[in-house]
Amino acid sequence: MTGGGDCPGLNAVIRSVCATAARFDVEVVGLADGYEGLYDGRVIPLCWDVVTNIFSVGGTILGTTNKGHFASKDTATAAVWAHVREVWAGLGLESLICVGGDGTMAIAEMCSREAGIPVVGVPKTIDNDLSSTDQTFGFDSAVSIVTEALDRLHTTASSHHRVMVVEVMGRNAGWIALAATIAGGADVCLIPEVAWDFAPVLERLRDNAQSRRGYSIVVVAEGAKMPATGAQLYSAAGHLGGIGAQVAEHIGAHSSMETRLTVLGHTQRGGSPTSFDRVLSARFGVFAAELAINRDYGKMAALEGKHIVAAPITDSIGIQRLIEPTSQLLHTARMMGIIFGDESTPLSFHLA
Ligand code: F6P
Repeated sequence: MTGGGDCPGLNAVIRSVCATAARFDVEVVGLADGYEGLYDGRVIPLCWDVVTNIFSVGGTILGTTNKGHFASKDTATAAVWAHVREVWAGLGLESLICVGGDGTMAIAEMCSREAGIPVVGVPKTIDNDLSSTDQTFGFDSAVSIVTEALDRLHTTASSHHRVMVVEVMGRNAGWIALAATIAGGADVCLIPEVAWDFAPVLERLRDNAQSRRGYSIVVVAEGAKMPATGAQLYSAAGHLGGIGAQVAEHIGAHSSMETRLTVLGHTQRGGSPTSFDRVLSARFGVFAAELAINRDYGKMAALEGKHIVAAPITDSIGIQRLIEPTSQLLHTARMMGIIFGDESTPLSFHLA
């Protein structure tokens, strides 16, 4: 079962689970559209013919949802769990491998507690904010997409001597923004974990405008907080984002620099997984299948250093893995001269 927002690598996990199960003569079926398939008893047969070609395909062949009966405690009532117990018994399945982020893991834990379903977890999200694993699959693919976009923005920004503001995903975590800023050679990176102000940002942009570089790239995480209020911004429909437009507008209004905005949005979740994510998905999928086959339930496959280990699903719930002030990656970026908006002067940064 794949739950929550999709990302590249889900199908690679599905194929790896099926391949491992086949070695033990264990049959695998998928549940359609996340936990809704569990509620409705909608099962998709996953024979080898179905999964053989999906390793490099983005999205999920099972479908997914982050809405429905399990989206909140209000909807996941006792009656819903009673229904799930009945459906699960009727399906005749032995265990459920839940592939998803913190929301999916929280529901997996409830499936175990409320409906007695033996569960195993696989950590997914482009945001890379799941605790108990050093990395989730999908993150590397998203960073690659943003990096490629930044590479393209460099050339057009340079031609026009412009400031390019790029809003990226990541929810409350700045991992995508930080990694892509470093990989894509951006000048400024605004993330939710760092309280920032416009002054140091403008100073760097003016500095760049007057230097040989002549242009700037500003990466803004969708969850970065506005300086005056400390608030995150949402669209009228309630979706996180919109801060990129505010940043671009402020730069335009407080300088003579031509400024343009790019919001990468769901392009960051689409398309094929990178080779790194394919390998990580394969490792997670095989490990999770082995946990299920060994009846070692309640655990999630997790990356610890170079190894895949079993972490209790409960450890991954309710705690977001955010960028610490002491993060080595943050330090690396600062040493490279990247501005986070919390700097005090002097900010001038030109290599001799
Ligand atoms: O959690 C993954 C993510 O892509 C976030 O980065 C983003 O804020 C959110 O999902 C978007 O969700 P939706 O697909 O529901 O618009």
